[in-house]
Amino acid sequence: MVNRFMRAVATAPANIALIKYWGKKDARLRLPANNSISINLSDITTTTAVEFLNELSDDMISIDNETVTGDEKTRISAHLDRIRRMAGIHLRAKVESKNNFPKGTGLASSASGFAALSLAASTSAGLTLSEKELSILARLGSGSACRSIPSGIVEWKAGTSDNSSYAYSLFPANYWNIRDVIAIVGDELKKVSSTEGHAAVKSSPLYKVRIREMPQKLRQIKAAIRNRDFSEFGEICEAEALNMHAVMMTSKPALIYWMPTTLRVMHQIIDWRSSGLESYFTIDAGPNVHALCVADDALKLAGRLSLIEGVRKVIVNLPTDGATLVEGTDLMDY
Ligand code: PMV
Repeated sequence: MVNRFMRAVATAPANIALIKYWGKKDARLRLPANNSISINLSDITTTTAVEFLNELSDDMISIDNETVTGDEKTRISAHLDRIRRMAGIHLRAKVESKNNFPKGTGLASSASGFAALSLAASTSAGLTLSEKELSILARLGSGSACRSIPSGIVEWKAGTSDNSSYAYSLFPANYWNIRDVIAIVGDELKKVSSTEGHAAVKSSPLYKVRIREMPQKLRQIKAAIRNRDFSEFGEICEAEALNMHAVMMTSKPALIYWMPTTLRVMHQIIDWRSSGLESYFTIDAGPNVHALCVADDALKLAGRLSLIEGVRKVIVNLPTDGATLVEGTDLMDY
């Protein structure tokens, strides 16, 4: 039998959550406890090539030229299984994935990684999925990956079922000329994975309050973005990051993702703000600090951040489009 499958290549951005996803109401389906809002980042991306091949007896997966084994492979193969089920095929896949940022920097690659994998693998398997279907698929690989499918500023609707939990674009990438300047602090792999962190969330006495305040916070940030009110927007983002980290620090076991340099950067951002350089920090499940600012301030901010003791690298990001196919047309016969 001759099967016709494409080798498909897709690229996807990482995203920074402004209103964070921390805690799930359904772990198996990765349904989050609350809606979250993020921006896709132009300069942290993953590019992934997938090809389903007759001759393979097992999935062959490499990330940054290293063969993937163990738990990481199991998780990626389970995602490929979802796609095989949807396409009604049994072939194993060759997956080659490359991040444009170095490993071990604490920059999350699971969002960009599962978004790129979902688009490349579904295309290679002959499926044509809508943006919503792709977002749902990516979510099952890694929750925040569903936000790397649509473009620009994105909201993930928590939903109540597999079909109703997906992300969509609130505003296109060019809607607002803002920047996310990342100060890379960490050079170690995270000690506690976000999967473990999500599971511990209910042990924090602050979690209930966080969830109760969420609808109002979501309304407020959407209004700030709609009005392009950067000060209001930044204040909400900073308070939200501190809120999530307060939950992390008060759960059992306590999760303390900040390093000494993280705190140094946070204090500097606040000091600079009071002397006229307006930026606000946000931090995900790691030690790196994202400084949000308007485009005109990005270079000045990047220059200052890079001089702080312990900051290893600075990356300036624009809001950008979601996952896209790089090439998907070189159909091959097997
Ligand atoms: O998608 P996960 O399981 O890696 O969780 C992401 C959690 C945060 O980055 C801390 C917040 C978010 O909304 O991205």
